[in-house]
Amino acid sequence: MAQSQHPHAMAALAFAVAVFLLAGAPGARSQQPYGSEVADCNNRHNDTGLLGYFCSRGGSSAPSCQTYLTFHATPPYSDFAAIAALLGADAAGLAAANSAASATAALAPGTKVLVPATCSCTGAAHYQRNATYVAVAGDTLFVIANNTFQGLSTCQAMQEQVLGGAPAKTLQARQAITVPLRCACPSAAQGSAGVRYLVTYLVDEFDELGAIASRFGVDAGSISAANEMTSDTIYPFTTLLIPVKSQPDVSQLRSPPLPPPPPPVAPAPTKKSKNHTGVYVGIGVAVAVLAVVAAVVAALALRARRRRASATVAAAGGGVAKKGGKGKGKASPVFTSGEVSVSISEAFSGLSDIKSSLNVFTYGELTAATDGFSPDRRVGGSVYRAVFNGDSAAVEVVDRDVSSEVDIMRKINHLNLVRLIGVSHHRGRWYLVSEYAEHGTLRDCLLAGGAGTAPPLSWAQRVQVALDVAEGLRYLHGYTRPPYVHMDVSSDSVLLAAGLRAKIRNFGGARIIRGSTDAAGERGEAFTMTSNIAGTRGYMAPEYLEHGVVSPKADVYSLGVVLLELVTGKDVEELESKGDPFAGLNTLARDIDGSDDDDAALRRMEEFLDPAMAAAGSCPREAVAMMVRLIERCVRRDAAGRPGIGEVAQHLLMLHGVSGDGWHSSLEHYRSSGANSGEQL
Ligand SMILES: *[C@@H]1O[C@H](CO)[C@@H](O)[C@H](O)[C@H]1NC(C)=O
Ligand SMILES: *[C@@H]1O[C@H](CO)[C@@H](O)[C@H](O)[C@H]1NC(C)=O
Ligand SMILES: *[C@@H]1O[C@H](CO)[C@@H](O)[C@H](O)[C@H]1NC(C)=O
Repeated sequence: MAQSQHPHAMAALAFAVAVFLLAGAPGARSQQPYGSEVADCNNRHNDTGLLGYFCSRGGSSAPSCQTYLTFHATPPYSDFAAIAALLGADAAGLAAANSAASATAALAPGTKVLVPATCSCTGAAHYQRNATYVAVAGDTLFVIANNTFQGLSTCQAMQEQVLGGAPAKTLQARQAITVPLRCACPSAAQGSAGVRYLVTYLVDEFDELGAIASRFGVDAGSISAANEMTSDTIYPFTTLLIPVKSQPDVSQLRSPPLPPPPPPVAPAPTKKSKNHTGVYVGIGVAVAVLAVVAAVVAALALRARRRRASATVAAAGGGVAKKGGKGKGKASPVFTSGEVSVSISEAFSGLSDIKSSLNVFTYGELTAATDGFSPDRRVGGSVYRAVFNGDSAAVEVVDRDVSSEVDIMRKINHLNLVRLIGVSHHRGRWYLVSEYAEHGTLRDCLLAGGAGTAPPLSWAQRVQVALDVAEGLRYLHGYTRPPYVHMDVSSDSVLLAAGLRAKIRNFGGARIIRGSTDAAGERGEAFTMTSNIAGTRGYMAPEYLEHGVVSPKADVYSLGVVLLELVTGKDVEELESKGDPFAGLNTLARDIDGSDDDDAALRRMEEFLDPAMAAAGSCPREAVAMMVRLIERCVRRDAAGRPGIGEVAQHLLMLHGVSGDGWHSSLEHYRSSGANSGEQL
């Protein structure tokens, strides 16, 4: 699920960046080190820059420059005047930089503020800007640096410079001290690359590198380089330098415009609906207004589309690439908040209860359920495990427009699609509460199985997972009204729940397909064009990546890649590292299926299949051959040559039969016919 300005997009760009970095483009690296040991006040950590950013890094730098810091309004610093006083800035200038008319208007707690500042070298060692602070009872250097200044300074820097290395104990109430604020000027190399400012960005809880990069319109690689980062992990209450080429704007700090809150679909009866009445009335009005707007927009869009029905739109580079991250791009939001979901239950009696309700949780309820978003509860990315009344749920903290996701997830109800339970909104962030999948992502399961940290999935389990994913997509393509395509199927967007049943998640990139897809999803000619390409590298169908063609066949392609990962146990990067991962699939299928099992064919099969499966039982040979053939058809370059999702599901169902009941008999068949050595891998 991604947004044009969010990570996860444009493989080509990612590749270019990677090549650029690997090639060690001059000046693009080694600027200032990223220090995260902000709480380790007894050590200087001067080599990770906690005493201050270094004056001469990456070539000679300017001795002083104009720069910007970030700060979060927090009582008692809840207006520009108070913040300016704390940081030693000019109140009117601060208000102006934040496009605010008044310096004294109260800011909501958590509001992010951009602080213009001059940054200079102190002596020859460190860049900084001095603020003056009067200590109050209970202050320690750490509390001042971390809590009051939110990480804009460090206890190490204060101790070193202000107290001459004396321990924090000597701090007295009402003592005025100088607080060195962290800042830096662009290096010569950055300057010649067009960087004008290094914004000192305060990392907030739940921030992710890719998301920060897209807000500032820079690529994540340039931030990593500017901060000499060795991984993408960032920590709250530390600072990151963001190299920007033009004056930053406060809107870049704040969350995207709030999406319409989800309509109050039958709030859970147990909830304190009384307290929410006002909210619901507000939501109702907002939804009504949106519905009208959406209807008008949709009508206009439809007319425009008809006029250029057959025009080919070349893919424009609409996003910044990042692979595998949680952040997803959003679908282009010509959205249909007004669209009424049909009663799916009428058509499909077998599906579980369709009248799913969407709860609106309070932030307090979520903190209680996640132990205050404790790191122990983090299950990857910005997803936390919550426990409500003994039941686990996943809470994803998101910093993007979630309206399209929520809108889609409200309309779907299928065993193989992750179910949205509720939402919450707090301080500009959205929290999506959904079904919890105890085994995590398919990607992690496959990698863990290979590393021996979890029991590997057996062949039968893998086929079940494949079938589950295909069924989930078949539902999405054919049985929702309107039909959707997912557009970001990958082993990272497949979760494994209890019983290793697969569930697809990440609906942020899903798009509506209008056209002639029939209920079985067999006719693939329904398509739409987009210039906003978002997805995960390695899984995107060529016609989508190259021309922006969105169709169910693009999901089939991605599914084919996931099937290949399932069978080989290798992730897409590893598969691609050895050249075209799809070359020779046909030959391989023929070999495996060959009647005379010569040793060479068996060896090839052994090389192809995930070695971890050997520990989890055997693989019926004809089923493997069928699977390889299916994969080969799914990943064809020519979309028309790919099967529809219904056909894929049918094939997998047959395969499932082979690996289920037919499992032993097929083994017996091989044994009794004397072909005894090879089929058992
Ligand atoms: C950090 O401090 C130590 C000891 O004072 C010194 O030897 C070292 O060179 C310093 N490192 C940097 C990067 O300044
Ligand atoms: C900040 O204050 C420290 C300590 O008082 C001083 O040594 C340093 O030169 C000042 N730096 C700037 C840039 O004013
Ligand atoms: C650092 O400060 C923040 C508030 O700015 C606070 O939430 C956090 O608990 C502090 N960290 C520590 C270790 O006290």
